[in-house]
Amino acid sequence: MSSLVYRKIRKSDYSRVKELIIEAFKFKQYTSNSKVLDIFSETYLRRCLLAQNYSQVVEENGEVIGLLLGKINKKNKFLKNAPNLLSLFICWVRALLTDKKNKAFFLEYKKVSDAYANLIKECNDNFDGEVVLFIVGEKCRGKGIGRRLVNNYLYFCKSNNVRSLYLFTDSKCNYGFYDNNGFERMGQKQINVNTVNGPSDLGIYLYSYKVGEYLINKQLPNTRSNFVNQ
Ligand SMILES: CC(C)(COP(=O)(O)OP(=O)(O)OC[C@H]1O[C@@H](n2cnc3c(N)ncnc32)[C@H](O)[C@@H]1OP(=O)(O)O)[C@@H](O)C(=O)NCCC(=O)NCCS
Repeated sequence: MSSLVYRKIRKSDYSRVKELIIEAFKFKQYTSNSKVLDIFSETYLRRCLLAQNYSQVVEENGEVIGLLLGKINKKNKFLKNAPNLLSLFICWVRALLTDKKNKAFFLEYKKVSDAYANLIKECNDNFDGEVVLFIVGEKCRGKGIGRRLVNNYLYFCKSNNVRSLYLFTDSKCNYGFYDNNGFERMGQKQINVNTVNGPSDLGIYLYSYKVGEYLINKQLPNTRSNFVNQ
């Protein structure tokens, strides 16, 4: 593998990140309409950008191949968020203007976000960190890039006195990564979603991680010396 650059996200990365989102979360199972895919991936990305205050993308030969957006307990600045709010508003208008069949896709996703909201409400823990978005492109998986991204975020959490963090995932994602890397499943729900192939069961999971207890890579200090953070 040629050299990897780990750096903060830039605006010019957004279109590539949307591709990664569509691929990783298998949005094409829900619609084949390219306009709807574009609006939905843009909405998804902007919501993540609004939530995060930590970002790291991995670039190989000038192409973004993975990223982690995270949050720690710190207020996000309104002015910094204004462009994302505006883009989100434009997405909602575009979604409203799509036909009835395509609107159904957006309603399907509401089932997922409602399940997330219920899971966190039922879990009485107070978390001070969150993994907001975590993807490594299909062709680059299994090479330790995901673990490096998580370790770098955990290092950031630890330096900011974050004790515990959480994340949402589902049965169509690679939740095995969390099971194998010291995360604990705190809650789950089963929902049913309509895909292009008909109704399908989907498990919705809430995972947590105790930052103070242990880190997932014992060689953590070395991970920082190996990357360029721009
Ligand atoms: C989750 C994801 C980011 C992991 O990235 P990755 O670069 O492939 O992961 P790594 O190569 O760093 O794996 C680190 C370790 O986790 C293990 N691991 C990864 N997936 C696993 C699985 N499904 N079951 C068990 N172990 C797993 C690896 O084997 C490796 O352990 P090892 O070093 O002991 O062999 C990637 O699979 C992905 O983007 N999936 C689609 C999107 C997604 O599911 N995101 C997260 C949930 S929202």
